[in-house]
Amino acid sequence: MKKLVSLAFAAGIAMVGASAVQAISEAEIKKDIEEFQGFFLKRFPGLTLEDFSDGVNALPQYAHRRANWEINMEFPQFEPEMDKAAEEWAAPFQNGKSLADCDLAPAQNYPVFDAASGDLRTVEGDINACLKANGEEVIKNVKRGKMARLVAHYKSQFNGEKMAVDYSDPGAQAWYEKGRQFYWAKRGQLNFSCADCHVHNSGNSARGDVLSAGLGHGVGFPVWRTKWQVAGKPWGTIHRRYGGCNNQVRADGFKAQGEEYKALEFYESVMNTGVPLKVPSLRQ
Ligand code: HEC
Repeated sequence: MKKLVSLAFAAGIAMVGASAVQAISEAEIKKDIEEFQGFFLKRFPGLTLEDFSDGVNALPQYAHRRANWEINMEFPQFEPEMDKAAEEWAAPFQNGKSLADCDLAPAQNYPVFDAASGDLRTVEGDINACLKANGEEVIKNVKRGKMARLVAHYKSQFNGEKMAVDYSDPGAQAWYEKGRQFYWAKRGQLNFSCADCHVHNSGNSARGDVLSAGLGHGVGFPVWRTKWQVAGKPWGTIHRRYGGCNNQVRADGFKAQGEEYKALEFYESVMNTGVPLKVPSLRQ
């Protein structure tokens, strides 16, 4: 029985695999970036590309709450957790090495397409791969808690660096196309796409929230979020956030670090080309 289930699972993965998606050229992707960024720069005149690092806090529709966010960012509640993450990063493995010895790419280059495996590497995936390679236990929960804290620690060292994901390989372009389709496809009982809220309605209000611009999505992640803090788990990775947005439209959720969200992260990261990292960040 167990074998059957895992076979079905493998078949499912193969069906949604990046290879099933039609290719798109590098030039077309460049044009997508220009159009996407151009749309937001026109919709929110006065904002620069850099400003979009702040998520919803960057938007004029959110101006009345921005001062409060700035004060909180100056004395952030996540500070002790960041100290803890720095210690965990330096803590020796059984073999004497530590996470500091892991072979990670610069944060602004993630997700990284790995031509040898055809897979996308994320910071979360690379941390677990490194733990495993060193005979350490992997971190099971890949969307909050310790993993989110460690990713925040790593990425924060690249703050100010501009997003620059490499999409020159045809394999990477297939992942891009898959993420792009996910972003623009309507889903769930409410029949909303990501773009319906974060492009067409960015800056508008939805149930008391102002909808952020899709531009800048992810450059502040992992984030420390008030809503998650209430439930005792304040840290969340970008895939945790994707899960929440999918829930909002009552769509089926996908697994953190699964193919769908990795493709989505790749698409959003490419759209953010040139937007500086600002990790971690506070969110409502
Ligand atoms: C029904 C509207 C709606 C839809 C559809 C939706 N979201 Fe969201 N999303 C929100 C709201 C509300 C927030 C919280 C306020 C904000 O930052 O926009 C949010 C926040 C986010 C954030 C956090 C931004 C930040 O900097 O803190 C990301 C990333 C995001 N959404 C991505 C997506 C993606 C990808 C999809 C498609 C799978 C999606 N959303 C679909 C409403 C939506």
